[in-house]
Amino acid sequence: MNSPTLRYRNIIPSLRGEGGFAFIARGRELAAKGYKVINLSIGQPDVPTPDNVIDSAVHWLKEKKFTAYTETAGIPDLRQAIADYLNERYGADVKWEEVVVTPGTKGAIFLALATYLEPGDEIIVPEPSYPAYPEGAKILNAKPVYVPLKFMGKDRGFELDIEKIEEVITPKTKMIVINNPHNPSGALFTPRELDKIYEIAREHKIMILADEIYDNFVYEGEFKSMISYPDWRDYLIYTNGFSKTFSMTGWRLGYVVVRKEVASILSKLAVSMWGCPVSFAQKAAVTALKDPETWEWVKALSKRYAEMRDLLYNEISKVEGVEAWKSKGAYYLFPRITKLLNELNINVEEFVDYIIDHHHLIILPGTAFPDKAGKDYVRFSFATNKESIVEGAKRFREAVNELLSKK
Ligand SMILES: Cc1ncc(COP(=O)(O)O)c(C=O)c1O
Repeated sequence: MNSPTLRYRNIIPSLRGEGGFAFIARGRELAAKGYKVINLSIGQPDVPTPDNVIDSAVHWLKEKKFTAYTETAGIPDLRQAIADYLNERYGADVKWEEVVVTPGTKGAIFLALATYLEPGDEIIVPEPSYPAYPEGAKILNAKPVYVPLKFMGKDRGFELDIEKIEEVITPKTKMIVINNPHNPSGALFTPRELDKIYEIAREHKIMILADEIYDNFVYEGEFKSMISYPDWRDYLIYTNGFSKTFSMTGWRLGYVVVRKEVASILSKLAVSMWGCPVSFAQKAAVTALKDPETWEWVKALSKRYAEMRDLLYNEISKVEGVEAWKSKGAYYLFPRITKLLNELNINVEEFVDYIIDHHHLIILPGTAFPDKAGKDYVRFSFATNKESIVEGAKRFREAVNELLSKK
């Protein structure tokens, strides 16, 4: 049938979506059947938003003064609070007019991509990668150019392949994505690596999309924010958000920082996409950033996740055929399982399917972080409690032993 409602753009059904969301649904289905599911796939803290932030949202709702549209780029006091955060923490010089608040960091990422990418433009994506960058580029008919991270073994972990990044630059290259700390690998790129990338950007006049949404989850090593480069206005489009730091994934709040002229251009696009971010959520976000109580909460959460990382790492490292590297940031462990997959003669998706179907443990195959660089890896989230990690690791071990014994 030649119905006009079926004539959507071809690219849309070919999008890969996001594994994390698909696997949330799978976990719910299993739980509905009565299974006790252990979910180590989810990229969100295991605790709800802190009380002071919730109280603030309730207050503004109850006051009935903050239920209407706001400025497209967000309310000035939130934009100022974000600028203060970046300036105090990273010695940046961001002005409030350079901040655009968005519905989630995903909103920030898509706004950035849609503002800059022309059809045919290329965007360099170190891989494995959070899927929103390449998927967003594809929606805009631009081309993701993947450059695998280098896995330097279980002592050094993942590094950017700087030579390769420079090699793939063409006249069509518009942007390089740097997500640091990194999802899914847990890498924390060193100031040296970042300086080199920034130098490449300056030399080739390419912009960097710097996504630092995990900046409050750094367990060891030095974190350098790219917003601290004095000439950031010439090369950077910076994104961050509230989901991970303050456990506000459902509130949908993120932000972009760009030079002032571009911030008003982003707003022109945003006004036709979502009009403005949620009004009372913005008021609560000011509390999140400004109330010292929230920062105590964040510090305690990050400390607990460092312990969860150690626990998960110790448990997973014991499993035959698994090469785990102790991540330095974000809240994921991304072990390599090449030997195991070779021995079992299955691919990572089949491996993960087996674990989900037979042991009700949800983890993600590395291929959920497109395109191919993750094919020998699985991702565990350790943003959870001790019981879930111990039980999850036990099920993982049992599943591996069972598969090996069936060989
Ligand atoms: C690297 C990275 N950027 C952005 C996001 C999106 O976060 P938000 O909930 O703010 O849209 C995520 C969520 O998992 C992420 O891992």
